[in-house]
Amino acid sequence: MGNNEKLRLGYIHRFILPSDEMRTRRAQRQKGERNKFTTFLSLHGTGGNEEDLIPLAQQLDQKAAILSPRGKVLEAGVAPRFFRRLAEGVFDVEDLKYRTNELADFVKDASNAYDFDVHNVIAVGYSNGANIGASMLLLRPEILSGAILFRAMVPLIPEILPDLTNKHIFMSSGLYDPIVPKQEAERLFGLFKKAGAKVSLNWQNSGHELTMKEVQKAEEWLHSDIVKP
Ligand code: MLT
Repeated sequence: MGNNEKLRLGYIHRFILPSDEMRTRRAQRQKGERNKFTTFLSLHGTGGNEEDLIPLAQQLDQKAAILSPRGKVLEAGVAPRFFRRLAEGVFDVEDLKYRTNELADFVKDASNAYDFDVHNVIAVGYSNGANIGASMLLLRPEILSGAILFRAMVPLIPEILPDLTNKHIFMSSGLYDPIVPKQEAERLFGLFKKAGAKVSLNWQNSGHELTMKEVQKAEEWLHSDIVKP
């Protein structure tokens, strides 16, 4: 896809197909089969970009495709984010709703442009990216079949709790996180549970920073629960 076409999708982004998928794609097309691979929606943290979580997503599952947008909101003119905040942990909820819908529509458009299955998308988000991933589950659940959320907090309380019965969610939170207090992560876990999701909350002996151990745990969870070989 050329740069102009990419820009028309509305976000600076990367899309990466798994290498074996590239080989089989043409053959599959000829047989009229649908693509069967999972696509990770990779969502970076504040001040990051579309490159940040690609190695992590590749570690989680080499057979998955990766759609990785860059957040459009620039904090202080320099730090990309997925939605505006008024202060640390205090969100501009109207902007969050708008940006959540905008991102959900981008995933839908990208699934047509890149020909991946919009019913097999798993968000992989860290911090601000995890928060918009959680918001998407609450406001536009049809876009995600699951999510891996590192250091997420309650992004908003939806007017109507969605039915998340078939959604698989892995949350990983830091016991000593100065940005996301323990009760915040527990509150989000409770919200997902109440909505019927298959959710697990995994505590790390860490702060806001990611650790290798939890990435491995997420990988195990994914392969035992979600991705069928
Ligand atoms: C947020 O703004 O989404 C959270 O405070 C996490 C962060 O990005 O620092």
